[in-house]
Amino acid sequence: METSSFDFGMIGLGVMGRNLLLNMADHGFSVIGFDKDLSKATSLESFASPGTTVKGVSTLSEMVKQLKRPRKIMMLVPAGPIVDYVINDLLPLVEENDIIIDGGNSHYTDTLNRIKFLEDKKIHFVGMGVSGGEHGARTGPSIMPGGDVEAWKELKQILEAISAKVNNEPCVAYMGKNAAGHYVKMVHNGIEYAIMQLISEVYDVLKRSMGLNNDELHEVFKKWNEGEMNSFLLEITSGIFLKKDDQSNKRLVDMILDKAGSKGTGKWTSQDAMNLPVPVPTIDMAVAMRDISVYKDERVNASTLYNPKIKPITKNKEKILQQLHDGLYAATILCYAQGLAMLHKASSELNMDISLKDVVRIWRGGCIIRSSLLEMFTTAFKKNSQLPNILLNKKVASLIKKKIPALRKIVSLSTASRIPAAGLASALSYFDAYCSENLPTNLIQAQRDYFGAHTYQRIDQEGNFHTEW
Ligand code: 6PG
Repeated sequence: METSSFDFGMIGLGVMGRNLLLNMADHGFSVIGFDKDLSKATSLESFASPGTTVKGVSTLSEMVKQLKRPRKIMMLVPAGPIVDYVINDLLPLVEENDIIIDGGNSHYTDTLNRIKFLEDKKIHFVGMGVSGGEHGARTGPSIMPGGDVEAWKELKQILEAISAKVNNEPCVAYMGKNAAGHYVKMVHNGIEYAIMQLISEVYDVLKRSMGLNNDELHEVFKKWNEGEMNSFLLEITSGIFLKKDDQSNKRLVDMILDKAGSKGTGKWTSQDAMNLPVPVPTIDMAVAMRDISVYKDERVNASTLYNPKIKPITKNKEKILQQLHDGLYAATILCYAQGLAMLHKASSELNMDISLKDVVRIWRGGCIIRSSLLEMFTTAFKKNSQLPNILLNKKVASLIKKKIPALRKIVSLSTASRIPAAGLASALSYFDAYCSENLPTNLIQAQRDYFGAHTYQRIDQEGNFHTEW
């Protein structure tokens, strides 16, 4: 290989970085990678498919000088200050019009700052969400780039080649201006948190209340995944129940401590939703329930103190199974509704011009929240790209109308059984509030005016009013 002959460079050869790079090579691009962990750089080539052009190097400058111009350099390093360190290391090596891509889960405000910082130096900075995990990175992820359009035009060919495909359409598109790429990925993860929470609550009912064993749980989720509710998360859930633990004679799922980790994207979604403000209660609840899970010792103490007895469900099991299916289906739609409504609002509030129809289109494949529902949402946004909430689409409405009674049933059933179902209940309350012509918020306004002279609006006249209560 001559100097300046590589199409793409990667900084950070952890599994994600390495697999994305190898995916590019599989599609005919010549790629070069650097990692400060020398062993990762030297082993890179051994993972490459035969006939592909892949090179690992031990210094950043070696990598940069072998890239074609404008240079396309992506980093997949932990979000936070490390991204800035890498940018600073790159600065003396790159030149005008080069493109630096951050493919990690960075906070969008950091991305905004970095865009500004590099804009002055005439270097394009692209905040890009990548979803699909390690396997997706190698075989076809969903890719969410944002930032300046010039950079997108340069990257389009490579990104389209490596992305997942649905009906031959690549699961990558320009998400919008500024930090739109990372913003969309953040909300993707918020929705991911919410759906995972819902599935875990249904699992709880099935296991602790209905007494299903792991094989039965596998069968239930497998069947559900084969039907209208088909999704990646249901697919992996059904598989999880079969996995044997190699250190005991139990299933692995039963050996895993019930404390959830998180890297922050779900919390960021909630925080930013509150700033906008847009209600995303099921995402909020998903974050809160992961948080409560961490207080294991306190939960153990409290369970001794209150001694909760799970009420078993013994009758009408088939009927309840169907209700759990339909209720989960409705609640899942309500998670997407919240996340997409947030993107709609953020698009204008934060000046990102996010195209919702492209967002749902590229989420149909490759990403963690891919599901058959995304096809319906794509049609909805094609019909009306400015739809503020997918619940206002007629087709979605007719589906929700059919499934909501089941959600109502399973929320009351789980409450009666003492199974915590905060995610399911929040989704239902979101729905009930969103389609209530009247809310009790008139009373809140009266209270605010009573104690704080905050004023209120009237239903029969324009203006702001205050009363001496
Ligand atoms: C994806 C995932 C990915 C990652 C999450 C996990 O789309 O591929 O969302 O980005 O697995 O960040 O997040 P938590 O560790 O916060 O659950």
